[in-house]
Amino acid sequence: MTDHKTLLLTGASRGIGHATVKHFHAAGWTIFTASRQSWVEDCPWAEGLLNHIHLDLEDIDSLSAAIPMIKERLGGQLHALVNNAGVSPKGEDGSRLGVRETDYATWIRVFNVNLFSTAILANGLFDELQAAQGSIINITSIAGSRVHPFAGAAYATSKAGLSALTREMACDFGKHGIRVNAIAPGEIDTAILSPGTQEMVEHTVPMKRLGKPEEVASLIYFLCTAGASYVNGAEIHVNGGQHV
Ligand SMILES: NC(=O)c1ccc[n+]([C@@H]2O[C@H](COP(=O)([O-])OP(=O)(O)OC[C@H]3O[C@@H](n4cnc5c(N)ncnc54)[C@H](OP(=O)(O)O)[C@@H]3O)[C@@H](O)[C@H]2O)c1
Repeated sequence: MTDHKTLLLTGASRGIGHATVKHFHAAGWTIFTASRQSWVEDCPWAEGLLNHIHLDLEDIDSLSAAIPMIKERLGGQLHALVNNAGVSPKGEDGSRLGVRETDYATWIRVFNVNLFSTAILANGLFDELQAAQGSIINITSIAGSRVHPFAGAAYATSKAGLSALTREMACDFGKHGIRVNAIAPGEIDTAILSPGTQEMVEHTVPMKRLGKPEEVASLIYFLCTAGASYVNGAEIHVNGGQHV
């Protein structure tokens, strides 16, 4: 048993994930990251490279095969699993991929990364989460509950599925002391946004601005701490009021 707390976050290389690992690190947590890219050279802490796990969440077979290695790296306890990695494919000209523009390969890729990998990771690391009485945060989206002008059909339905999976896991895991919650961002200033989002925000977000990655990271952190010890199965909007 160790005193320090451990986080595993997928998709830490940029955007919301990067802001989140910085927030947890500043609070003294040990950080494990997983994404396709190698860990960036300018990692802000020394053990970053050592604790980075090279994973392509699109490849479910290799993810399943990597679970024993991840368990060994974690050393028996996991206080927070943040399923943050996500893909939102667009057409060649940056256009929205509706149902008529989405082929089977795209459906599978998006669902593997945004939905199926989260269930595989949570199930594979159940023992470590239970040992730490930890929590899981799934990053959903405002596009999971309404048609969005830029997010495609596969992305939106994968996020709706992730909301449902959050409820299922809150029930299945909650009885073992593991809390499972979701955060649904609106328009956060990262590379995933489409051109035109800034203009859209002026008309659709009461606060009339994009969110900052740190404004999502701080809520993820709160949900993983004792202050949120009775919050389970919630999906919290972080969108400046876009959903009202
Ligand atoms: N920004 C927004 O406005 C917004 C709104 C609603 C929901 N969200 C959700 O918030 C989460 C983070 O989004 P973001 O805006 O920070 O996006 P981002 O800047 O595009 O970052 C996405 C992250 O996912 C990782 N990733 C993508 N494909 C992967 C794969 N096959 N295997 C492993 N990792 C993979 C990327 O790392 P690599 O490229 O290194 O693999 C990257 O670190 C996503 O789930 C997104 O759907 C964002």
